[in-house]
Amino acid sequence: MQIKVNLKENAYQVYIDELENLEFNTKVFILSNPKISGLHLKTLLSKLKAQEIFIATIKDGEEYKNLSTLEEILNQMFNSKLDRKSILISFGGGVISDMGGFAASVYKRGIDFINIPTTLLACVDAAVGGKTGINNSFGKNLIGTFYQPKAVYCESEFLRTLGERELAAGMAEFIKMAVIFDKNLLDFIESIDEKAFLNARCENEIFSKIIAKSVELKAKVVEQDEKESHLRMLLNYGHTFAHVIENLTKYSVYLHGEAVAIGMNMANRLALNLKLLNEKECDRIERILKKFNLPTHYKIDNVDAFYEVFFMDKKNSNQKLNFILADSLGKGLIKSDIDPKDIIKILKEFS
Ligand code: GLY
Repeated sequence: MQIKVNLKENAYQVYIDELENLEFNTKVFILSNPKISGLHLKTLLSKLKAQEIFIATIKDGEEYKNLSTLEEILNQMFNSKLDRKSILISFGGGVISDMGGFAASVYKRGIDFINIPTTLLACVDAAVGGKTGINNSFGKNLIGTFYQPKAVYCESEFLRTLGERELAAGMAEFIKMAVIFDKNLLDFIESIDEKAFLNARCENEIFSKIIAKSVELKAKVVEQDEKESHLRMLLNYGHTFAHVIENLTKYSVYLHGEAVAIGMNMANRLALNLKLLNEKECDRIERILKKFNLPTHYKIDNVDAFYEVFFMDKKNSNQKLNFILADSLGKGLIKSDIDPKDIIKILKEFS
C-alpha cells in the first residue's frame, strides 16, 4: 500500500509493506543503532544497492538525542566524504529518524534522506511529516528543522522483534490520532487482542491498518499545515504534559509514547474540568490506555516547577500556553485561554 504526502515539490510516498529493491547511483549513509542493525541490517542490505554504503550507529535512547550525538553523526558523514548527492537512510525508531533527518537537513546545507522506521511509534508518527530535531536541557525537540524525507518505508516485518513496551508506546500515538481525529478508530482499538498485539503475534493486517490509518490522517494534516501554525498543533495532544514529564525525568524513565499516554490522561482531566469531555469519555480513554499496559499517572513532586516547564513549549505564543484537548471523542481543540488556576488544579490532582 502507498500513501502520498502531497506537499507539492516536497511530495513523497509512504510505502507500507512494500520495501523491495532500493537502488541509488550515489553514496548511501545508513544511520541506525546497535540493536536495530543487529536485528535487521542484513535484511536492509540485501535490498539495497548503491555506489558505496556507510553504516553508522548511535546509542539507543531518547537521552542520547542531543547535540553531542548530532556532532558524532555529522563527523561520521564528513569522514564518509558524503557529497550533496549522497543519501542518508534513517533506520530505526523516532530518535533515529529525528536525528537522521536533522543531520541530513544541515549537512552541507541539506542532503536527501529516507526514513525506514523500525518501531511502531516511528511508523505511525515520527517518520512521517518532516519534523527533525534534538533535545537540550531546556526541553524536548527545541532545536530542529522541518525537512521532509524523500520516501518512507514502513515494514510490519521489522515490528515483530519489538518488545511489549515499545509496541504499547506506538499504540499510544495511534490512540492519540483516534481521540483527536477519528472516534471510529477507538472501536477498532478496543477490538484488538491486546495480548497478541503486545507479544507482536497479532495478524499483519493489524499492524498495517494501524500504520495506514495514522499515515492517512497525518498526511492530511501535514499537507494543510506543514510548519505547525494551526491544525498540526492538534497532533500534540498529550504532548504538552508529556514533554514536561520527559524533561523532568531526563528522558530516561519513560518511552516517549508512555509519557504521551500519561499526558493524554492529564489533558483529559483538564478537558473534563472544562466540560469538553465527560467522565465516561475520560474513563473510556484511560481504560483503552491501560488495556495496552500504558501508564496513565505520574506523581508530580513540585506543582510549581512542573507548571514552569510548560513555558518552554514550542506551541506557546506571547507567553500564552496552548493546550491541545479533546473536545468530545474524535475531535481536537487548541485552547489558549485556560485560567492558570484550572491548570494548577489538575496538576495538584496528580501530586
Ligand atoms: N509528532 C507530531 C507531528 O509530527 O506534528
